[in-house]
Amino acid sequence: MKIDVVLGLQWGDEGKGKIVDVLANSYPVIARFQGGPNAGHSLHFEGKKFVLHTVPSGVFRKNTVNIIGNGVVIDPIIFREECMEIEAMGVPVRKRVMISKKAHLILPTHRIIDAASEASKGASKIGSTLKGIGPAYMDKTGRNGVRVGDTLAPDFKKRFEALKQKHISFLKQFDYEYDAQEKEAEWMEAVEYMKSFPLIDGEYTVNHYLSDNKKILAEGAQGSMLDVDFGSYPFVTSSSTTCAGVCIGLGAAPGKIGKVYGIFKAYCTRVGSGPFPTELNDPTGEELRQKGFEFGATTGRPRRTGWLDLVALKYAIMLSGVNELIMMKADVLDSFDTIKAAVAYRVNGVETNQVPYDTYARIEPVYKEFKGWKKDLSSIRKEEELPFEFMTYVRFIEKELNVPVTIISLGPDREQTIFRNND
Ligand code: GDP
Ligand code: IMO
Ligand code: MG
Repeated sequence: MKIDVVLGLQWGDEGKGKIVDVLANSYPVIARFQGGPNAGHSLHFEGKKFVLHTVPSGVFRKNTVNIIGNGVVIDPIIFREECMEIEAMGVPVRKRVMISKKAHLILPTHRIIDAASEASKGASKIGSTLKGIGPAYMDKTGRNGVRVGDTLAPDFKKRFEALKQKHISFLKQFDYEYDAQEKEAEWMEAVEYMKSFPLIDGEYTVNHYLSDNKKILAEGAQGSMLDVDFGSYPFVTSSSTTCAGVCIGLGAAPGKIGKVYGIFKAYCTRVGSGPFPTELNDPTGEELRQKGFEFGATTGRPRRTGWLDLVALKYAIMLSGVNELIMMKADVLDSFDTIKAAVAYRVNGVETNQVPYDTYARIEPVYKEFKGWKKDLSSIRKEEELPFEFMTYVRFIEKELNVPVTIISLGPDREQTIFRNND
């Protein structure tokens, strides 16, 4: 069996949580492979809403095993809060969630470093979620990190203390007030709670499932344009959000990758700083924000909004070998007279189909305009009932990107999903 993958193709918040929850019915195993509690994946079902940060979005499906892979960074405090809420809903979370021993831990001092580093950058800050993601991955690649499996070692507290002391020295460069002890007791308690979950050799578990004919769905966090290598550096997150990240973050060989679903909103959003070529700082942008309820699921920050960007989507598809597209939130565009999509960029007056290397380049989008459908799509469940103008928009996107749109989401609920030409 293979690992199918759901990847955000834009700047995150495409609706990955909803779609993984919908698809989880056909997968016995769901796995997160990168990121951490910077993610906020919203699920709506049976009139309830739930936001997941660390736990994979298959947790509400019976008979589903959810793996937190080695590529993820975990804050035990956030993990405990999340799991206790899920448990309170009557879900046997300890039976459904397993954690790789090789996943790295976010210490309270990682969060302090994140905040101090952002504060020191002033106007050029990344706009981090302040969850300690960057500093935790820095320690991982710098070979100083503390891993989930280390919590089982008799000298765990010593290892924790050694890293904390390194952080205290590192923090001396910042003019930043903090209390390194503040969250420590709570964090240690949360570590004990986390230890009541199966702590696994994730790479073996993943490969056993595959040889046992069990299909795995890998759930991406963030989006391709926030990838540490290919996103708008330095305004990126600190992990590999493209398909290659699945292999590294779960311990699976490239040949084990099956379908790659690329998920995108019918328009664009971004939270935090960095280039956003199709951004709308006008009433249309505000309308998108209000109608799409574009406020961060993790931080509550208003999301920046703009038209669909086909140049960026093409780039993301190329990086991950996306073979099926999932289009989200088209219902948000229901009342617009005109809808636009960028088909090229003009950089220093020269037209191009490439995302420029220079993060600070002045990009002017070249738009194609579409007539709006002016019809409420949210209750439509059959492809045949979708308006002509909407299908014109979808077909244009498919033709430009040369990848079929196989799923269309027209509302936050599980039920508001249309499957097209699915096998
Ligand atoms: P994720 O991080 O990719 O899982 O996405 P988020 O959960 O951060 O943001 C997506 C938001 O859009 C959530 O509030 C979802 O409930 C909502 N949503 C998902 N799909 C749709 C859709 O098709 N239409 C509308 N209107 N909202 C949606
Ligand atoms: P999901 O999985 C949207 C953004 C932050 C910031 C940059 C770096 O819900 O799609 P970090 O905390 O990772 O150091 O922040 O990345 N960012 C996200 N934006 N959705 C996310 O996750 C994000 N995770 C991080 O806003 O610009
Ligand atoms: Mg989100």
